[in-house]
Amino acid sequence: MEAVTLGLQEEHVLIERFTTVLEWTRTRVESGIGLDEDFISSQLSFLRDFVISCHFAKEELYVFPKLRALGDDIKSLELELEEDHNAIRALTDKLKAAWETGDVSLIDAVLGDLVKRLLSHQEKENSVAFAYVEMYTSDNEKSQLLNELRLFDAKPECNKASVERQLNYMFSVMEG
Ligand SMILES: [Fe+2]
Ligand SMILES: [Fe+2]
Repeated sequence: MEAVTLGLQEEHVLIERFTTVLEWTRTRVESGIGLDEDFISSQLSFLRDFVISCHFAKEELYVFPKLRALGDDIKSLELELEEDHNAIRALTDKLKAAWETGDVSLIDAVLGDLVKRLLSHQEKENSVAFAYVEMYTSDNEKSQLLNELRLFDAKPECNKASVERQLNYMFSVMEG
């Protein structure tokens, strides 16, 4: 049986690559170098569309309920993951507002918080939460979940080709 969280783990790799873009942006901002508007709006749309509307949405619909159903031991982990999602959503809004006002020290701080939160969140999912889901989901349930995840992936915000394109564009800017 295929691992039900495999697609989500692959998305974590893309999001981890994206955090290197955020880090790079941070060093540019710190040294007072201006950034192209397309580059900034690509980052905001990667966060809003792919990370939040596609990846988080799938986890909240299909993974978190599964964790909740596993009982009280897992409850605090599940709540922590939900809190991370809420914090990352709030940081994304804050980043957008900070770019709009051009508040350099706020942009710097928010980028730093986003990178830390995204990486620590994914680490919890990869090493603990997803393992629980794989361990305690029957094959029948897994194939049902896989179907639902595949259907969700047909949404434009989950379009892998356009996500890869966005990342490639951001890396091309970084490489000059
Ligand atoms: Fe998550
Ligand atoms: Fe995730």
